[in-house]
Amino acid sequence: MNLAAPSVAIVGCGLIGQKRAKALGPARLAVCCDAVEDRAASLARPHGARVTTNWQNAVSDPAVDIVLVATTHDLLPVIGAAAAANGKHVLIEKPGARRAAELDPLAAAAAQTGARVRVGFNHRFHRALQKAHELVADGSLGPLMFVRGRYGHGGRIGYDKEWRSIPEKSGGGELVDQGCHLIDLARWYLGADFTRIQGSIATYFWDMPVEDNGFLLLETAAGQTAFLHATWTEWKNLFSFEIYGRVGKLEISGLGGSYGTERVTFYKMSPEMGPPETFAWEYPMGDNSWDLEFQAFLEDIRLGRDPNPGVADAQAALRVIESVYKENPR
Ligand SMILES: NC(=O)c1ccc[n+]([C@@H]2O[C@H](COP(=O)([O-])OP(=O)(O)OC[C@H]3O[C@@H](n4cnc5c(N)ncnc54)[C@H](O)[C@@H]3O)[C@@H](O)[C@H]2O)c1
Repeated sequence: MNLAAPSVAIVGCGLIGQKRAKALGPARLAVCCDAVEDRAASLARPHGARVTTNWQNAVSDPAVDIVLVATTHDLLPVIGAAAAANGKHVLIEKPGARRAAELDPLAAAAAQTGARVRVGFNHRFHRALQKAHELVADGSLGPLMFVRGRYGHGGRIGYDKEWRSIPEKSGGGELVDQGCHLIDLARWYLGADFTRIQGSIATYFWDMPVEDNGFLLLETAAGQTAFLHATWTEWKNLFSFEIYGRVGKLEISGLGGSYGTERVTFYKMSPEMGPPETFAWEYPMGDNSWDLEFQAFLEDIRLGRDPNPGVADAQAALRVIESVYKENPR
């Protein structure tokens, strides 16, 4: 493999496959695969990449070093496992699978061939979320008590007929879709897994067999809480994540684009309490999380480092979701 310019296959050339193609850094797009041939062809054209509608063919191409999988959730772990079994390094989109156990074959294949596997929780690489992580890590907030996250959009006409509303393809509704980002971020900031899981799901608006709203109340073994809400009935797109420590609070809002400008505000408690000292950072520039995430993946490969987040992180988030589904059968 040419570490300076590795060859990439993208399987699934929809919205995210197209985004990934713009964030490859020094890597070269060699193969574009989609069940819809025109979609693969239009992504391939400017790169002179090969086009295929057969994912088995893409993941076994000897010229390919890295496979990016951006399909429906049912196929992510299957395509990922086949690629890893062929010794390809794999970046699969969140949530990685419909259920945690579906990722076991991918982990086993990677362990056997030495393939690196990263899961695309790209939100960790947003500027505001990175800044917040630095402030948490340097102790600015003191010991963390709880986090509160809200994430949602309002869908679009016909949203209830798209693949995200088909349980066999998606594994569930909004809890799997955007809820998995919130769970991943809560784990990342709190630095712990959840040992107590409560939640409820509801389908308030859309005519679909999966939930359009998910509500979570999660607790770590140390008693820290994550209070999270993911929604497809958010008529004005929203991202809000608040982190509460004993001596300060962080408020993160926006993700760029329709979610509004990314901002972090740090409210620092003074010893005499009362109104806190306030510091704010704003990031009006474009979202570069996809570029940074892919650069990190190239570093994983170069250094032989375990990607973070990897398969175990995706499984941890999926276990939370599965537990809520089990408690709320439909
Ligand atoms: N990190 C994020 O913020 C973020 C945002 C949106 C989506 N995603 C994730 O990215 C993935 C893709 O989502 P999307 O919004 O791009 O969906 P999409 O519907 O736009 O694209 C999926 C593509 O997969 C293709 N596909 C389906 N079956 C296939 C097969 N057998 N072989 C080859 N291609 C096949 C479809 O034709 C389609 O082009 C999902 O896992 C989703 O959860 C992540």
